[in-house]
Amino acid sequence: MTVSRDPAAREAVLAALEGALRAPSEHNTQPWRWTLLPDRLELAVDPHRRLPFTDERGEGALLACGAALHHLRIGLAVRGWTPLVRLDREGPPQRRVAEVGWEPADTVPDDARRHAAAIERRRTDRRRFGADPVDPAVLDELARVARAFDGAVHVVAGRARRTVVEAMRDAALLQLERPGYAAELQRWTHRYVGGADGLPHGVRLSEPHLYDDLVLRWFPGGGLDQPHGGSDHEDASTLLVLSAHGHDTASVVRAGEAMSAVLLEVTAHDLAATPVTQVLEVDETRERVSEVAGGHPVVVLRVGRPVPEAPPPPRTPRRDLASVLIDRSAAPDEQAAR
Ligand SMILES: Cc1cc2nc3c(=O)[nH]c(=O)nc-3n(C[C@H](O)[C@H](O)[C@H](O)COP(=O)(O)O)c2cc1C
Repeated sequence: MTVSRDPAAREAVLAALEGALRAPSEHNTQPWRWTLLPDRLELAVDPHRRLPFTDERGEGALLACGAALHHLRIGLAVRGWTPLVRLDREGPPQRRVAEVGWEPADTVPDDARRHAAAIERRRTDRRRFGADPVDPAVLDELARVARAFDGAVHVVAGRARRTVVEAMRDAALLQLERPGYAAELQRWTHRYVGGADGLPHGVRLSEPHLYDDLVLRWFPGGGLDQPHGGSDHEDASTLLVLSAHGHDTASVVRAGEAMSAVLLEVTAHDLAATPVTQVLEVDETRERVSEVAGGHPVVVLRVGRPVPEAPPPPRTPRRDLASVLIDRSAAPDEQAAR
């Protein structure tokens, strides 16, 4: 079904792309580039939006593209189209990672409906969570939605949790010593006023924090205060490690889809989450996490119940669709007439 000849398809594709802008990305870099062709979309990593000193192996950018792809998928599905996704198996991270076609669908899958409704509400929350733990039945649901994209969710508890937490603490120190890391952090946390990317003042915490035993990535100079009530020691976050089923580009992009599905499922249950990749960006600490979680870990997720009455954290900005989309969808005769 070509978008140049079918206005309904065009409208659905553009609306789904708008929804995909809300996908999470490391430092809110939004490293995706879409090309609309008459009968399909192509998704590529934007090489100018990678984080070479933070995300040396380029996995964070692939995960973000996977999250955008998952957001697009559900945007198409709720508008009555089945997405036809083909992932590129290998290749340098700055090239195309996926191709998406579409065909009319008879039904809308339940997960797509629930996840689409969560897109606008989802946000990364770095504040203290409440004292009540997450219901194990919900953790099972998170694992189920990840499995649909070949992602494995491993809940780390007891000794395994201690290993991951220690690795997170070490990674926070080791990464800070790495040349270029601090400058990159500064660059993406101090954008021009009114900028449409990076981490604005209002989503970065105002004070360094240690939740029970947990050290998260520190973003300097923020203005977000902790919710009233409770103490950092009451934070009952659950730690999950999400692993990809392989090491190739397609496996990591697919794990990005799984990450997106888990984060939207978290939102659908009125829970909160912080994705953390710092511990996986330092070789030595990543190995320690692999030993306890198995497979190819791509992101650690801190999941919890928001403190009751705490307002949601502010929304991070996004670039507009025109900044990330190249439209080559005009039919050849229309193109010739231009
Ligand atoms: C691959 C990846 C890695 C991330 N790593 C971290 C992290 O280490 N610490 C953190 O606080 N947030 C992390 N985030 C969250 C991003 O900063 C967040 O998605 C982005 O700023 C957009 O904000 P939003 O999620 O509220 O829409 C990560 C997100 C992704 C997709």
